[in-house]
Amino acid sequence: MTLEIVPLAASLGAEIRGVDLTQPMSDDDFEKIKDAWNEYSVLLFRNQTLDHESHVAFSRRFGALDKHDSIPKFRDQNIHEILRVANDVVGGRKQTVGQQWHSDLSITQQPAKASLLRSDKLPPKGGDTLFASSYQAYEDLSPAMKTFLEGLSAVHDIAQSKQNKGRVDLDEARQRTPPVVHPVIRTHSVTGKKAIYVNEMSTSRIVELAPEESEAVLQFLFAHTTQHKYTYRHRWQVGDLLMWDNESTQHLALADYDIEVPRVLYRTTLLGVPSGRLATEKELT
Ligand code: SIN
Repeated sequence: MTLEIVPLAASLGAEIRGVDLTQPMSDDDFEKIKDAWNEYSVLLFRNQTLDHESHVAFSRRFGALDKHDSIPKFRDQNIHEILRVANDVVGGRKQTVGQQWHSDLSITQQPAKASLLRSDKLPPKGGDTLFASSYQAYEDLSPAMKTFLEGLSAVHDIAQSKQNKGRVDLDEARQRTPPVVHPVIRTHSVTGKKAIYVNEMSTSRIVELAPEESEAVLQFLFAHTTQHKYTYRHRWQVGDLLMWDNESTQHLALADYDIEVPRVLYRTTLLGVPSGRLATEKELT
């Protein structure tokens, strides 16, 4: 089989054809995949037959994996590197995961480098995932806006997301994962390119600005980054493995399917480089 790279949208995304991820892969093909990932940020592999073990084995070639200690309820009880991403009922509540724009684990001091998501059960209609290129969104800012944003930092807080509002164990979760501060513009750990690093699910404020200023700038950045021209919309098929770079993208699981129909995916998460610091009390008021 010959490896083929087929771009999927103008700003990001490519499909990798001609590989069976359950089979040994040459270093040469693996390097091509890594290069494509750095170029396109989101990679799609269709018609795969991965199970948990082979999913973990392929993911590990890219680096160390998260054991999901901060979300033990959702990880596989035997293989902690596998996270179940599903609309299950947990604690009497239907889970609605990822339905605002976000970048995985930006609420921690070691945000995820990458996520590799494999489909298992899909609703017959809807349930796509959208991705936006935070690189391209940064590139298209005016030079004056780039200068203004450089050096600013923002709070990322688990309490910010809609899915966590009303959660009975929110205080406990916030103690386990306290609010952190990251640069608003982050430099990619591999490519050295800059990307916008605030998102509507987790970012609560820009610490150097007055509250009203912060709100206006954040709303601008959220809307700017997720414009259609920066996105790729993934229509899931069973057998897909989709991997994305959390340093250069944001994503959103669309809430346009029947929540009573199972939607089950499994994710591995590649540990990222340390970033940011804990937020101070003053930054949270
Ligand atoms: C996620 O946000 O990691 C999951 C995305 C999805 O369920 O489509």
